[in-house]
Amino acid sequence: MIPFNKPFLTGNERIYIEEVLKNGHFSGNNFFSKKCASWLEEHTLCAKAILVPSGTAALEMMMILANLGPGDEVILPSFTFSSTANAVVLRGATPVFVDIRPDTMNIDENLIEKAVTSRTKALCPVYYAGAACDMEAIESLAKQYGLLILPDAAQALGSVYKGRPLCSYGQMAALSFHETKNVHCGEGGALLVNDPGFVERAEIVMEKGTDRSKFFRGEIDKYSWVDIGSSFLMNEVTAAFLYAQLEGAEEIIERRLELWTYYYRSLESLEKEGKLRRLTPGCTHNGHIFGILLNDTAARDRLMYALKNKGIGTVFHYVPLHDAPMGLNFSSRALPAATEYAARLLRLPLYAELTSREIAHVVDAIHEVLS
Ligand SMILES: Cc1ncc(COP(=O)(O)O)c(C=O)c1O
Repeated sequence: MIPFNKPFLTGNERIYIEEVLKNGHFSGNNFFSKKCASWLEEHTLCAKAILVPSGTAALEMMMILANLGPGDEVILPSFTFSSTANAVVLRGATPVFVDIRPDTMNIDENLIEKAVTSRTKALCPVYYAGAACDMEAIESLAKQYGLLILPDAAQALGSVYKGRPLCSYGQMAALSFHETKNVHCGEGGALLVNDPGFVERAEIVMEKGTDRSKFFRGEIDKYSWVDIGSSFLMNEVTAAFLYAQLEGAEEIIERRLELWTYYYRSLESLEKEGKLRRLTPGCTHNGHIFGILLNDTAARDRLMYALKNKGIGTVFHYVPLHDAPMGLNFSSRALPAATEYAARLLRLPLYAELTSREIAHVVDAIHEVLS
Protein backbone atom coordinates (compact mmCIF):
# COMPACT_ATOMS: atom_id res chain seq x y z
CA MET A 1 0.00 0.00 0.00
CA ILE A 2 1.38 3.44 -0.92
CA PRO A 3 -0.52 6.09 1.05
CA PHE A 4 -1.04 9.63 -0.21
CA ASN A 5 0.95 11.11 2.67
CA LYS A 6 3.12 9.98 5.58
CA PRO A 7 4.13 12.67 8.08
CA PHE A 8 7.93 12.65 8.35
CA LEU A 9 9.92 12.40 11.59
CA THR A 10 13.54 13.53 11.77
CA GLY A 11 14.24 11.49 14.91
CA ASN A 12 14.99 14.43 17.22
CA GLU A 13 11.35 15.19 18.09
CA ARG A 14 11.35 12.78 21.06
CA ILE A 15 14.74 14.04 22.35
CA TYR A 16 13.62 17.68 22.32
CA ILE A 17 10.27 16.87 23.93
CA GLU A 18 12.14 15.06 26.71
CA GLU A 19 14.20 18.22 27.22
CA VAL A 20 10.98 20.17 27.72
CA LEU A 21 9.80 17.61 30.27
CA LYS A 22 13.09 18.08 32.14
CA ASN A 23 13.01 21.90 31.87
CA GLY A 24 9.49 22.03 33.30
CA HIS A 25 8.29 25.00 31.20
CA PHE A 26 5.40 24.11 28.93
CA SER A 27 3.65 27.32 27.92
CA GLY A 28 4.46 29.46 24.89
CA ASN A 29 7.50 31.63 24.20
CA ASN A 30 9.96 29.38 26.02
CA PHE A 31 13.27 27.86 24.89
CA PHE A 32 12.14 25.88 21.81
CA SER A 33 9.53 28.45 20.77
CA LYS A 34 12.29 31.07 20.66
CA LYS A 35 14.57 28.73 18.69
CA CYS A 36 11.79 28.08 16.15
CA ALA A 37 11.04 31.80 15.85
CA SER A 38 14.74 32.63 15.26
CA TRP A 39 14.96 29.87 12.65
CA LEU A 40 11.93 31.24 10.84
CA GLU A 41 13.17 34.83 11.03
CA GLU A 42 16.52 33.78 9.58
CA HIS A 43 15.07 31.64 6.80
CA THR A 44 12.09 33.77 5.74
CA LEU A 45 13.66 37.17 6.48
CA CYS A 46 10.56 38.33 8.40
CA ALA A 47 10.86 41.01 11.09
CA LYS A 48 9.18 38.73 13.64
CA ALA A 49 7.88 35.16 13.58
CA ILE A 50 5.08 34.33 15.99
CA LEU A 51 4.36 30.65 16.60
CA VAL A 52 0.65 29.95 16.79
CA PRO A 53 -1.52 26.85 17.28
CA SER A 54 -2.40 26.46 13.56
CA GLY A 55 -2.24 28.04 10.11
CA THR A 56 -5.87 28.97 10.68
CA ALA A 57 -4.90 30.89 13.83
CA ALA A 58 -2.15 32.69 11.88
CA LEU A 59 -4.71 33.80 9.28
CA GLU A 60 -7.14 34.93 11.98
CA MET A 61 -4.46 36.91 13.76
CA MET A 62 -3.37 38.48 10.47
CA MET A 63 -6.92 39.67 9.72
CA ILE A 64 -7.23 41.16 13.24
CA LEU A 65 -3.97 43.05 12.67
CA ALA A 66 -5.25 44.27 9.29
CA ASN A 67 -8.08 45.96 11.24
CA LEU A 68 -10.77 44.46 9.05
CA GLY A 69 -14.36 45.19 9.90
CA PRO A 70 -17.88 45.18 8.48
CA GLY A 71 -17.99 46.72 5.00
CA ASP A 72 -14.38 45.85 4.20
CA GLU A 73 -13.62 43.45 1.36
CA VAL A 74 -10.68 41.09 0.91
CA ILE A 75 -9.83 39.57 -2.46
CA LEU A 76 -8.78 35.91 -2.46
CA PRO A 77 -8.87 32.95 -4.83
CA SER A 78 -11.89 30.67 -4.71
CA PHE A 79 -9.63 27.62 -4.80
CA THR A 80 -8.36 27.57 -1.21
CA PHE A 81 -9.07 26.12 2.21
CA SER A 82 -12.02 27.42 4.24
CA SER A 83 -9.61 28.99 6.77
CA THR A 84 -8.52 31.73 4.34
CA ALA A 85 -12.08 33.00 3.96
CA ASN A 86 -13.18 32.26 7.55
CA ALA A 87 -10.46 34.57 8.87
CA VAL A 88 -12.02 37.41 6.85
CA VAL A 89 -15.62 36.52 7.73
CA LEU A 90 -14.81 36.28 11.46
CA ARG A 91 -13.91 40.01 11.36
CA GLY A 92 -17.32 40.79 9.84
CA ALA A 93 -15.64 41.57 6.50
CA THR A 94 -16.52 40.13 3.09
CA PRO A 95 -14.42 37.70 1.06
CA VAL A 96 -14.45 38.44 -2.67
CA PHE A 97 -13.56 35.35 -4.65
CA VAL A 98 -11.52 35.56 -7.84
CA ASP A 99 -10.87 32.86 -10.44
CA ILE A 100 -7.61 30.91 -10.81
CA ARG A 101 -4.96 29.94 -13.36
CA PRO A 102 -4.74 26.33 -14.54
CA ASP A 103 -0.93 26.05 -14.36
CA THR A 104 -0.66 26.75 -10.62
CA MET A 105 -4.30 26.79 -9.39
CA ASN A 106 -3.38 30.21 -7.92
CA ILE A 107 -5.32 33.47 -8.25
CA ASP A 108 -5.37 34.81 -11.81
CA GLU A 109 -3.62 38.17 -11.47
CA ASN A 110 -5.37 39.47 -14.59
CA LEU A 111 -8.77 39.19 -12.90
CA ILE A 112 -7.92 40.95 -9.64
CA GLU A 113 -8.37 44.56 -10.74
CA LYS A 114 -11.96 43.93 -11.85
CA ALA A 115 -12.76 42.77 -8.31
CA VAL A 116 -11.32 45.87 -6.60
CA THR A 117 -13.92 48.31 -5.20
CA SER A 118 -13.76 51.32 -2.89
CA ARG A 119 -14.30 48.84 -0.01
CA THR A 120 -11.33 46.59 -0.86
CA LYS A 121 -8.81 46.58 1.98
CA ALA A 122 -6.46 43.70 1.19
CA LEU A 123 -5.35 41.14 -1.35
CA CYS A 124 -4.90 37.65 0.05
CA PRO A 125 -3.02 35.51 -2.46
CA VAL A 126 -2.70 31.80 -1.67
CA TYR A 127 0.47 29.94 -2.67
CA TYR A 128 -1.06 26.61 -3.65
CA ALA A 129 1.48 23.76 -3.55
CA GLY A 130 4.15 26.30 -2.56
CA ALA A 131 3.89 27.96 -5.98
CA ALA A 132 4.17 31.73 -6.21
CA CYS A 133 1.48 34.01 -7.59
CA ASP A 134 2.52 36.82 -9.91
CA MET A 135 3.72 39.00 -7.04
CA GLU A 136 4.87 41.88 -9.28
CA ALA A 137 1.32 42.25 -10.60
CA ILE A 138 -0.12 41.91 -7.08
CA GLU A 139 2.34 44.42 -5.60
CA SER A 140 1.65 46.91 -8.35
CA LEU A 141 -2.16 46.66 -7.85
CA ALA A 142 -1.73 46.95 -4.08
CA LYS A 143 0.31 50.11 -4.55
CA GLN A 144 -2.10 51.59 -7.06
CA TYR A 145 -5.17 51.05 -4.83
CA GLY A 146 -3.50 51.36 -1.40
CA LEU A 147 -4.18 47.73 -0.37
CA LEU A 148 -2.48 45.40 2.08
CA ILE A 149 -1.00 42.13 0.78
CA LEU A 150 -1.73 39.32 3.25
CA PRO A 151 -0.70 35.99 1.74
CA ASP A 152 -1.93 32.61 2.89
CA ALA A 153 1.50 30.97 2.77
CA ALA A 154 0.29 27.83 4.58
CA GLN A 155 2.06 25.57 2.05
CA ALA A 156 4.97 27.82 1.09
CA LEU A 157 7.81 27.37 3.60
CA GLY A 158 11.05 27.01 1.59
CA SER A 159 9.74 28.38 -1.72
CA VAL A 160 11.79 31.13 -3.33
CA TYR A 161 10.46 33.72 -5.80
CA LYS A 162 12.71 36.11 -7.73
CA GLY A 163 15.60 35.41 -5.37
CA ARG A 164 13.63 36.08 -2.17
CA PRO A 165 11.80 33.72 0.20
CA LEU A 166 8.21 33.65 -1.04
CA CYS A 167 7.06 34.11 2.56
CA SER A 168 8.77 37.51 2.68
CA TYR A 169 6.20 39.07 0.29
CA GLY A 170 3.33 41.05 1.82
CA GLN A 171 3.02 42.88 5.14
CA MET A 172 2.44 39.53 6.90
CA ALA A 173 2.14 35.90 5.83
CA ALA A 174 0.50 32.87 7.43
CA LEU A 175 2.31 29.49 7.59
CA SER A 176 0.87 26.09 8.55
CA PHE A 177 2.67 23.20 10.24
CA HIS A 178 -0.28 20.80 10.03
CA GLU A 179 0.87 17.18 9.67
CA THR A 180 0.11 17.30 5.92
CA LYS A 181 2.73 20.03 5.39
CA ASN A 182 6.39 19.49 4.46
CA VAL A 183 7.50 20.55 7.94
CA HIS A 184 4.97 19.85 10.68
CA CYS A 185 4.16 19.50 14.35
CA GLY A 186 0.76 17.84 14.10
CA GLU A 187 -1.16 21.08 14.41
CA GLY A 188 0.69 24.39 14.32
CA GLY A 189 1.44 27.53 12.39
CA ALA A 190 3.31 30.82 12.37
CA LEU A 191 2.46 34.39 11.61
CA LEU A 192 5.39 35.96 9.79
CA VAL A 193 5.33 39.71 10.31
CA ASN A 194 7.32 41.21 7.44
CA ASP A 195 6.42 44.86 8.01
CA PRO A 196 7.95 45.94 11.35
CA GLY A 197 5.07 48.40 11.77
CA PHE A 198 2.80 45.48 12.74
CA VAL A 199 5.13 43.89 15.30
CA GLU A 200 4.13 45.81 18.43
CA ARG A 201 0.41 45.15 17.99
CA ALA A 202 1.05 41.53 16.94
CA GLU A 203 2.68 40.91 20.32
CA ILE A 204 -0.41 42.31 22.04
CA VAL A 205 -2.97 40.41 19.95
CA MET A 206 -0.97 37.20 20.54
CA GLU A 207 -1.09 37.73 24.33
CA LYS A 208 -4.88 37.94 24.69
CA GLY A 209 -4.88 41.70 24.07
CA THR A 210 -2.40 42.48 26.85
CA ASP A 211 1.04 44.10 26.80
CA ARG A 212 2.51 41.11 28.64
CA SER A 213 5.39 40.79 26.13
CA LYS A 214 6.64 44.26 27.13
CA PHE A 215 6.28 43.28 30.80
CA PHE A 216 8.35 40.09 30.26
CA ARG A 217 11.08 42.19 28.63
CA GLY A 218 11.07 44.54 31.65
CA GLU A 219 9.86 47.50 29.60
CA ILE A 220 6.82 48.14 31.87
CA ASP A 221 6.20 47.26 35.54
CA LYS A 222 2.75 45.67 35.09
CA TYR A 223 0.72 44.44 32.16
CA SER A 224 -2.92 45.07 31.37
CA TRP A 225 -5.66 44.65 28.77
CA VAL A 226 -4.92 47.18 26.01
CA ASP A 227 -6.50 45.82 22.77
CA ILE A 228 -8.47 42.90 21.38
CA GLY A 229 -6.59 39.62 21.20
CA SER A 230 -6.79 35.91 21.79
CA SER A 231 -4.75 32.91 22.91
CA PHE A 232 -2.45 32.70 19.93
CA LEU A 233 0.62 30.99 21.44
CA MET A 234 1.96 27.56 20.51
CA ASN A 235 2.79 25.42 23.56
CA GLU A 236 6.41 24.43 24.25
CA VAL A 237 5.99 20.66 23.70
CA THR A 238 4.72 21.32 20.19
CA ALA A 239 7.49 23.87 19.59
CA ALA A 240 10.10 21.26 20.62
CA PHE A 241 8.68 18.85 18.03
CA LEU A 242 8.62 21.64 15.45
CA TYR A 243 12.24 22.63 16.07
CA ALA A 244 13.37 19.09 15.24
CA GLN A 245 11.47 19.41 11.97
CA LEU A 246 12.82 22.86 11.12
CA GLU A 247 16.36 21.57 11.60
CA GLY A 248 15.58 18.91 9.00
CA ALA A 249 13.63 21.24 6.66
CA GLU A 250 16.34 21.57 4.02
CA GLU A 251 16.77 17.80 3.74
CA ILE A 252 13.01 17.15 3.71
CA ILE A 253 12.43 19.69 0.95
CA GLU A 254 15.40 18.41 -1.07
CA ARG A 255 14.00 14.87 -1.03
CA ARG A 256 10.49 16.05 -1.88
CA LEU A 257 11.86 18.04 -4.83
CA GLU A 258 13.71 14.96 -6.12
CA LEU A 259 10.45 13.01 -6.04
CA TRP A 260 8.47 15.91 -7.53
CA THR A 261 10.97 16.17 -10.41
CA TYR A 262 10.76 12.44 -11.02
CA TYR A 263 6.97 12.68 -11.42
CA TYR A 264 7.30 15.77 -13.59
CA ARG A 265 9.70 14.09 -16.04
CA SER A 266 7.99 10.70 -16.03
CA LEU A 267 4.56 12.12 -16.84
CA GLU A 268 5.72 14.43 -19.63
CA SER A 269 4.89 11.91 -22.36
CA LEU A 270 1.30 11.57 -21.08
CA GLU A 271 0.94 15.35 -21.25
CA LYS A 272 2.22 15.32 -24.83
CA GLU A 273 -0.39 12.66 -25.65
CA GLY A 274 -3.09 14.96 -24.22
CA LYS A 275 -3.98 12.60 -21.34
CA LEU A 276 -3.17 14.96 -18.49
CA ARG A 277 -1.63 18.28 -17.62
CA ARG A 278 1.00 18.76 -14.88
CA LEU A 279 0.72 21.67 -12.44
CA THR A 280 3.82 23.80 -12.99
CA PRO A 281 4.87 26.26 -10.30
CA GLY A 282 6.66 29.19 -11.93
CA CYS A 283 9.18 29.57 -9.11
CA THR A 284 11.72 27.65 -7.04
CA HIS A 285 9.11 25.75 -5.08
CA ASN A 286 9.24 23.35 -2.15
CA GLY A 287 7.87 20.11 -3.59
CA HIS A 288 4.77 20.28 -1.42
CA ILE A 289 2.21 18.84 -3.85
CA PHE A 290 2.44 17.03 -7.16
CA GLY A 291 -0.84 17.72 -8.94
CA ILE A 292 -2.19 16.69 -12.31
CA LEU A 293 -5.28 17.83 -14.18
CA LEU A 294 -7.11 15.06 -16.01
CA ASN A 295 -9.26 15.91 -19.02
CA ASP A 296 -12.52 15.85 -17.06
CA THR A 297 -13.94 14.75 -13.72
CA ALA A 298 -14.88 11.29 -14.99
CA ALA A 299 -11.27 10.69 -16.15
CA ARG A 300 -9.97 11.97 -12.78
CA ASP A 301 -12.28 9.67 -10.82
CA ARG A 302 -11.46 6.69 -13.06
CA LEU A 303 -7.74 7.17 -12.45
CA MET A 304 -8.23 7.69 -8.72
CA TYR A 305 -10.23 4.47 -8.32
CA ALA A 306 -7.95 2.45 -10.61
CA LEU A 307 -4.94 3.54 -8.52
CA LYS A 308 -6.82 2.79 -5.30
CA ASN A 309 -7.40 -0.75 -6.57
CA LYS A 310 -3.64 -1.03 -7.06
CA GLY A 311 -3.02 0.10 -3.46
CA ILE A 312 -2.03 3.68 -4.34
CA GLY A 313 -3.59 6.57 -2.42
CA THR A 314 -4.37 9.76 -4.34
CA VAL A 315 -6.67 12.62 -3.40
CA PHE A 316 -8.36 15.61 -4.94
CA HIS A 317 -8.48 18.91 -3.07
CA TYR A 318 -10.67 21.88 -2.14
CA VAL A 319 -14.23 22.37 -3.30
CA PRO A 320 -13.92 25.98 -4.58
CA LEU A 321 -15.26 28.28 -1.89
CA HIS A 322 -17.60 30.24 -4.18
CA ASP A 323 -19.38 26.93 -4.93
CA ALA A 324 -19.46 25.77 -1.27
CA PRO A 325 -22.62 26.20 0.86
CA MET A 326 -21.05 28.94 3.00
CA GLY A 327 -19.41 30.66 0.03
CA LEU A 328 -22.78 31.09 -1.69
CA ASN A 329 -23.62 33.66 1.02
CA PHE A 330 -20.93 35.95 -0.38
CA SER A 331 -20.88 35.41 -4.10
CA SER A 332 -23.21 34.72 -6.93
CA ARG A 333 -20.63 35.06 -9.70
CA ALA A 334 -19.54 32.02 -11.70
CA LEU A 335 -15.82 31.33 -11.51
CA PRO A 336 -15.52 28.73 -14.25
CA ALA A 337 -11.82 27.98 -14.02
CA ALA A 338 -11.91 27.22 -10.28
CA THR A 339 -15.00 25.04 -10.69
CA GLU A 340 -13.56 23.15 -13.64
CA TYR A 341 -9.95 22.66 -12.56
CA ALA A 342 -10.83 21.66 -8.98
CA ALA A 343 -12.99 18.89 -10.47
CA ARG A 344 -10.12 17.68 -12.67
CA LEU A 345 -7.31 17.82 -10.10
CA LEU A 346 -5.63 14.79 -8.60
CA ARG A 347 -2.70 14.81 -6.17
CA LEU A 348 -0.19 11.96 -6.23
CA PRO A 349 1.59 10.40 -3.22
CA LEU A 350 4.47 12.64 -2.15
CA TYR A 351 6.34 12.36 1.14
CA ALA A 352 10.01 12.26 2.10
CA GLU A 353 9.98 8.52 2.84
CA LEU A 354 8.48 7.55 -0.51
CA THR A 355 11.11 5.26 -2.03
CA SER A 356 12.41 5.39 -5.59
CA ARG A 357 10.88 1.97 -6.19
CA GLU A 358 7.49 3.07 -4.86
CA ILE A 359 7.36 6.24 -6.95
CA ALA A 360 8.36 4.27 -10.06
CA HIS A 361 5.47 1.91 -9.28
CA VAL A 362 3.04 4.87 -9.06
CA VAL A 363 4.26 6.25 -12.40
CA ASP A 364 4.01 2.83 -14.09
CA ALA A 365 0.50 2.40 -12.75
CA ILE A 366 -0.57 5.82 -14.13
CA HIS A 367 0.89 5.00 -17.56
CA GLU A 368 -0.87 1.65 -17.52
CA VAL A 369 -4.26 3.10 -16.57
CA LEU A 370 -4.09 6.01 -19.02
CA SER A 371 -2.76 4.18 -22.03
C1 LIG B 1 -4.03 27.09 1.85
C2 LIG B 1 -4.28 26.71 3.28
N1 LIG B 1 -4.65 27.67 4.15
C3 LIG B 1 -4.86 27.39 5.45
C4 LIG B 1 -4.72 26.12 5.94
C5 LIG B 1 -5.02 25.87 7.38
O1 LIG B 1 -3.90 25.47 8.09
P1 LIG B 1 -4.07 24.65 9.47
O2 LIG B 1 -4.60 23.31 9.13
O3 LIG B 1 -2.69 24.62 10.03
O4 LIG B 1 -5.00 25.44 10.33
C6 LIG B 1 -4.35 25.08 5.06
C7 LIG B 1 -4.18 23.68 5.43
O5 LIG B 1 -4.19 23.02 6.28
C8 LIG B 1 -4.12 25.39 3.70
O6 LIG B 1 -3.76 24.44 2.83
